[in-house]
Amino acid sequence: MRYNICVMPGDGIGPEIVAEAVKVLDVVGKKFGLEFAYTQALIGGAAIDAVGVPLPDETVAACKAADAVLLGAVGGPKWDEIDPAIRPEKGLLGIRKALGLFANLRPAKLFPELAAACCLRPDIVGQGLDVMVIRELTGGAYFGEPRGIEKRGDEEVGFNTMVYAEHEVRRIAKVGFETARKRGKKLCSVDKANVLDVSRLWRKVVLEVAKDYPDVELSHMYVDNAAMQLVRAPSQFDVIVTENLFGDILSDEAAVITGSIGMLPSASLGAANPGLYEPIHGSAPDIAGQDKANPLATILSVAMMLKHSFDQPAAAEAIEAACAKVLADGYRTGDIMEPGKTLVGCKAMGQLVVERL
Ligand code: NAI
Ligand code: MG
Repeated sequence: MRYNICVMPGDGIGPEIVAEAVKVLDVVGKKFGLEFAYTQALIGGAAIDAVGVPLPDETVAACKAADAVLLGAVGGPKWDEIDPAIRPEKGLLGIRKALGLFANLRPAKLFPELAAACCLRPDIVGQGLDVMVIRELTGGAYFGEPRGIEKRGDEEVGFNTMVYAEHEVRRIAKVGFETARKRGKKLCSVDKANVLDVSRLWRKVVLEVAKDYPDVELSHMYVDNAAMQLVRAPSQFDVIVTENLFGDILSDEAAVITGSIGMLPSASLGAANPGLYEPIHGSAPDIAGQDKANPLATILSVAMMLKHSFDQPAAAEAIEAACAKVLADGYRTGDIMEPGKTLVGCKAMGQLVVERL
């Protein structure tokens, strides 16, 4: 099989971590008989410097023509003073929108080798921590109308609208059930149906979709309780599906309890390919260009690409196993360094993964 991947290194550590992920893809391709062709495209600050805008039309076209998109990160102090209309982050929001990426998948997995980095007590983490948070990405309060700030009487009033149409709930619920079916077969739908009408509709539609997935155990939880349960007993969760704003908060919470921003991948998916794959961290300007960045989040993001866009689960698992082996063998980048371990740079870390593949 031959796949076209649009590669957008972006800014800061982006080019360094993306280079290692591409190295890993090439090796896993040889091992599993997959061929990858790469198109490079500009986004964020790199695009602003080259052509004056954070998301050139050619980039959108290159992404749409690809089978999947790999992104490093965008932004940095160099562009902090720039006109807000063309900030680097506009490139990121713009490409998500242009590709219709309504489902954001963020696995929060604690590698047993990194248990010391976890901010929860060992007895709470128990058998480990492996939660997939699926956040709806193109609806809810972030996009709902009406929105704004207006004068009412003698004071200003600010408002946003949390709005979901049935079809928007149905498609994200399907992603939730499909994902759960391939994992631990448990889906928790998070809402606020005791208070919000939009959540009552959400719950009704999720229950309808559930009829097609009798093999998946569905539960519902109010978002305030879910936030509590995530730190109280995270191993009760397999897959969580929720709306945009709740998902923004819960996915950060789930991510941080694993304790290592340099380890966490993500996938953003639409109705069809291309999906977009990126580490959850930013461009880390403080360590950019110093060969210090942890490339594992980006390497694990290409594993997600193999799983979700190319349906190559064995290749994805090989990458995950190689990353776990490198950690088990005692190698660490600065962000996950502990006493007694071997400190390595970004390139060396990528190479160690390649060797284990
Ligand atoms: P950040 O995630 O870039 O960095 C936070 C801290 O984590 C820094 O100390 C950094 O050195 C460290 N870090 C991050 N990734 C690492 C890695 N792979 N290996 C080792 N250490 C790592 O977040 P920050 O500092 O808030 O933002 C920096 C820039 O990145 C800003 O311009 C921000 O707007 C942008 N950003 C971009 C995102 C994206 O492209 N998706 C997401 C978040 C921030
Ligand atoms: Mg967030």
